[in-house]
Amino acid sequence: MGDELQIHKGLDGVYIAESTICKVDGAVGRLYYRGYSIGEIAENSTYEEVAYLLIHGRLPKAAELEEFSKRLKAERDLPAEVVRIIQQSAGKSDPMDILRTAVSYLSISDNEVKDQSYESNIRKSIRLISKISSIVAATGRIADGGVYVKPDSALSHSENFVYMLKGRKPTKEEIKPVEMMFMLQAEHSTNASTFAALVAGSTLADLYSAVTSGIAALKGPLHGGADEEALRMMYAIGDPSNTEQYINEALAGKKKIMGFGHRVYKAYDPRAKIIKEYLLTLQNSSSEEVRRLTEIALRGEKLMIDKLGASHGIWPNVDFFAGPVYISAGIKIDLFTPMFAASRIAGWCAHVLEYWEDNKLIRPLELYKGQIDLKYVPIDKR
Ligand code: ACO
Repeated sequence: MGDELQIHKGLDGVYIAESTICKVDGAVGRLYYRGYSIGEIAENSTYEEVAYLLIHGRLPKAAELEEFSKRLKAERDLPAEVVRIIQQSAGKSDPMDILRTAVSYLSISDNEVKDQSYESNIRKSIRLISKISSIVAATGRIADGGVYVKPDSALSHSENFVYMLKGRKPTKEEIKPVEMMFMLQAEHSTNASTFAALVAGSTLADLYSAVTSGIAALKGPLHGGADEEALRMMYAIGDPSNTEQYINEALAGKKKIMGFGHRVYKAYDPRAKIIKEYLLTLQNSSSEEVRRLTEIALRGEKLMIDKLGASHGIWPNVDFFAGPVYISAGIKIDLFTPMFAASRIAGWCAHVLEYWEDNKLIRPLELYKGQIDLKYVPIDKR
């Protein structure tokens, strides 16, 4: 290996493109969507507006947002074949597998799938943002023994999600956390799933192929699946008084604590701060289960920060406090990662569209360490 050749395992520290979509300042724990801090976004915006901002690059005027929301509403219903796929598998298969399959199937019912014009890709982005939410909600509802509920165009994106999931008008306490999580998870630069979408997109495969790749990459516990794993750990801890012993034993056994650490953030993830603050507002109104989970989360957070925060740069990430918040909204654990996808779809589409403006096939190298020029041995002589 020549002196100048360096392997960047996991593409750690490698820049693959210029982008104006998202800045993650990992050293100080700041996040910006198109220049707006995530705190400003979470406090003032809506998921529809965030999706517009990410895709079109600027905040919409009132009429533009109304038109965009109207187009989202018009795309909410699912083709009968996709509903059938969900009916056949909900409650039996992993909802992320159902989502990946259903999104892939959506391309079959889209007659402009091969149209690579910008206008067509905007239409497909809107279709995907809208329909992925419906797929996730329908999967949750049908897994619970319910029937597919048609979308309600009088409702906002998040309200309609909860409505299709629960089959009844959602309460404020159910909508707020969903809207917050949808906004907070909508975009995060070149994370693993966005990169997977870009790799597929860079071959000039269509948007559905790119998004299906993104969903596949999001599934894993080192990425989107961490929120489910973090909550499972809290349930395994059971009682808050067990927290320290559980985490200390896990660390002593070299286990990773899900919901902590990040490739880019070496400071507190600003999204985790917002989610934690919200969780703390629930203290007096939430169920005994949510209060118990919150206490476990707070004790776990303190222990991990004391042990690994400043010394190792391992802080809570977006996934750590998400579980108790979802539970407060009556959302079951195996829908967390699909909901992440229903949010991140806006970021995936924005990135693929941006990358296509100046496309280059993504094709890294690997350093071959095997043998060469071996003599081929016929099968009966091996
Ligand atoms: N708990 C305990 N130790 C940890 C944790 C953790 N959560 N995260 C990292 N470490 C330790 C590793 O064991 C490793 O220690 P070592 O150097 O002694 O071997 C060191 O920190 C570096 O960790 P890596 O996994 O090599 O670093 P990387 O940059 O690849 O890690 C990752 C990023 C994968 C997110 C990691 O922190 C992790 O696995 N966290 C838990 C899973 C998780 O929460 N993922 C969600 C991330 S946010 C998102 O994708 C939406």
